[in-house]
Amino acid sequence: MTQDRWTAVDQYLCDELVPDDEALETALRASAAAGLPEISVSPAQGKLLNLLALGQGARSILEIGTLGGYSAIWLARALPPGGRLITLEADTRHAEVARSNLAHAGLTSVAEVRGGRAQETLPDLVAAGAGPFDLIFIDADKPGYPEYLRWALELARPGTMIIADNVVRDGMVADAASNDPLVQGVRRFIEMLAAERRVSATAIQTVGSKGYDGFALAVVLADAQR
Ligand code: SAH
Ligand code: DHB
Ligand code: MG
Repeated sequence: MTQDRWTAVDQYLCDELVPDDEALETALRASAAAGLPEISVSPAQGKLLNLLALGQGARSILEIGTLGGYSAIWLARALPPGGRLITLEADTRHAEVARSNLAHAGLTSVAEVRGGRAQETLPDLVAAGAGPFDLIFIDADKPGYPEYLRWALELARPGTMIIADNVVRDGMVADAASNDPLVQGVRRFIEMLAAERRVSATAIQTVGSKGYDGFALAVVLADAQR
């Protein structure tokens, strides 16, 4: 029961539940043509992000790690009129491709790609009073996750949903002895979630067209819920 099966099932489920979409397909094609790594969320995961944002009634969304804007398109499409998405991207070329893909999807007025390392742009957002965001999606470099969680909490309110991609990594996350900085970053992130009284969190393992991985989901609690 491995990759071929997971891909076939993902294909079946997406054929049924995730309609073909010109802008999303163009975004993936343009990203690949520009030489970007093919590590966007899968279509089923993209739709999950869209549905979580819809269910959350999110009017403001923050994404950390844009790549070519594929997940940003899914998230921005969940916004009501007047809503906004800010997505942070360190790589100038990735940011350019993402801006072009978001424009093609008709989302230029809704979604802003902010260039620069998130370690610098997150404090800028706090200083500018840009929060609180209703949903925050963490998907940039994995060693940065602990720091991104700290800033996400600064930019949140009770009820904010925080989602983090790629927290399982072929199961490597369970290897306490790993020297891999990716694994260590994710483990510290999970430990922070566990210790943080301001959130309640879980994490779910996933298989599919992108292999074996998982995501963490946290909700910021009201004082009375802690
Ligand atoms: N969310 C995207 C995939 C993001 S891939 C999607 O699913 O469609 C991770 C991205 O994070 C890459 O584009 C990488 O350049 C960016 N990144 C890596 N380190 C970063 C940092 N310190 N600050 C901001 N972005 C970073
Ligand atoms: C990588 C990053 C991601 O965000 C992802 O979804 C898959 C892989 C990576 O850096 O390898
Ligand atoms: Mg990811």
